[in-house]
Order: sequence, then C-alpha cells, then structure tokens
Amino acid sequence: MITVRAPGKVILYGEHAVVYGEPALAMAINKYVYVTAKARDDGKININARDLRLAGISVTILENGEVVARTDYGAVISALSYVKRAIEVAMGYIDKKVGVDLMIQSEMPVGAGLGTSAAVAVATILAYIKELGYDIDKRELARLAWQVEKDVQGAASPTDTTMATFGGIMYVKPEGGNAIMEPVKPGANIPLIIGYTPRVSTTKDLVAMVRRRYEAMRDVIEPIIRSIGIITRKGKEALERGDLELMGILMNINHGLLDALGVSTRQLNEMVYAARNAGALGSKLTGAGGGGCMIAISDRIEVEKAIELIGGSVLRAGLDIEGARVLNPG
Ligand code: PMV
Repeated sequence: MITVRAPGKVILYGEHAVVYGEPALAMAINKYVYVTAKARDDGKININARDLRLAGISVTILENGEVVARTDYGAVISALSYVKRAIEVAMGYIDKKVGVDLMIQSEMPVGAGLGTSAAVAVATILAYIKELGYDIDKRELARLAWQVEKDVQGAASPTDTTMATFGGIMYVKPEGGNAIMEPVKPGANIPLIIGYTPRVSTTKDLVAMVRRRYEAMRDVIEPIIRSIGIITRKGKEALERGDLELMGILMNINHGLLDALGVSTRQLNEMVYAARNAGALGSKLTGAGGGGCMIAISDRIEVEKAIELIGGSVLRAGLDIEGARVLNPG
C-alpha cells in the first residue's frame, strides 16, 4: 500500500494577464490531496473519495456503501473523471493494467481554484505507479498529469500540475504557446490566509469574458494587463528580498486591476477589504475569480475572523517545498 500527497497552489500575482503573455507567480501551499493505492488481484478499480469538498460543503460518498452527507454529484463526478483518466495514463506509462483500491482525501475545497484537480491527477498517477513497483521522475510525472488535465478539460495551462509535482514558488513565463517555469527562492516565510466562497463562474467563462472586453476596448484593457505584468515582476523581486510589506501593497494594486477587469465579485471584494482592515499586509483575489478564493498576507486570527464574518471559509497555509511525495516509501 502506498500513500502519496500532492499540494495545492495559489497565484500570488498575474492571473489573467498571463493569458496575454505576461508572467505570473504561483506558490504551492501546504494543503494536500492524499491518494492511497493498494493493488487488487481481481482487476477491479475501487475508488473511495470520502472527503471531496466543494466550497466548504462536505461531501461524503460510499462510506460503507452509503451516501452519508449532502452530495454534489456534479462535483464528485468531475473530480472522479480526473482520477479515472489519471489511472488510464498511469497504466499506459507502466504498460500494465492492474486493479487497485484508491482512497482519496483532500484538505482543500474542490473546484475553488486551489489546483485540487491537478493534485488529484499527480497523486493518483504517482501512487499507482509506485504501488506497482515502478518509478517515475518528476518531469515525466508533471507531463503525464498535465495530459490528464488537458484530456479532461479540453485545455489547461501546465501551472497547476507543475506546482502539484514540484512544489515551491514558480515564476511562470509564457513563451510561444508554452510556459517556462522558473523556481523562485523566497527571502522570507510568507504567512497566507486563504478565504473561499462558492465559485459562480468557471475559469473558462472568466477568461472568455476578459477576452471579449479586450477585443472591445483594447486601448483600455491592454494597459491594465501590462500593469499587472509589471506588478508581477516587482512582486517577484519583493518576494526574493523578503519584503512582505511591498508584496502586500502590490497585491492590493493587483486586486484593484483584477476588479477593473471584471473578475471579482462583491463577496470577494468584501473579504479582501475585511482582511486589510483587520491588519493584513495585503490581499487580493487569487485564481480566475468569479467567487472562489482570495489570499491575504497575514498570520493574524483577526484576519481569519474578519473573512468568516463576511461568510467566507478560511484555510491557513504556508509554502510547500516538496511537491508530490510518497509518504510511506517501502
Ligand atoms: O482557475 P485557476 O485558479 O487555476 O486560475 C486560472 C488563472 C487564469 O490566469 C485566469 C487562467 C490561466 O489559464 O492562466
């Protein structure tokens, strides 16, 4: 039996602008998806995902064969489609089809923009391959998991699967349809509080909405996107110096520009401002927006309480530096 964990991620700066060739800065967080694989000799694949959560709603399926909590079948089926494809891809890699019992648990809400689907794909592939006695290097693992995301979603950037595989902080530089990921060494520990609410729009819809605005008013939107690019470059430098104060100011500006692009929501804005008023060094929405997550640089309980008062759920997170890891080797 093998258990593997893979981290989620947040985007510190640069979402949406990265679609237009600007850089983004992503950070793996110490919140994980865990996948345990145990080979079976009857060729069956049994999946037990007791812990899939959608934006704070706890979903429990198939515990003793029963549904024991409110279940959003849409979310569960969508999460399971990543697992199914990941197993197929892993079987292809080792060129063997062996049945397994898989147990999947998540410390993060699914579908909130924290990269859980990528973490599920990475952890499932690695757990399956290891359980059957094979090895895989991380570059190959990231490539296979990215393939899973592309197969399930139709299109996907390699950001989430790279973060779930390698961990750390990565500077993402789009180059001719590809993304070059450059590891960044932080000059200080970055305390993050993540607030999340149910997501009302998908990443795909939000990217399309920004694209429509860009086409309709290029002279207005283009400078916003370029400004976000400048913020990301400065944010990377501030991070390398460990200048949390400047990082916070840049996050605040980044949030204002994302709001100007139309991807924030009233509740996200309220959470972002509540966090600042409670003493966070800076705060912004993270990921595609349209609900989902915000981040604040802070370790203060007051900030968590302020976010909860607005109706958000809270995760406290730090940096993950390991990426995907086998927890019980041999
Ligand atoms: O949905 P998320 O959290 O993975 O964020 C997507 C980030 C965007 O820049 C909006 C889209 C992209 O593919 O880079």
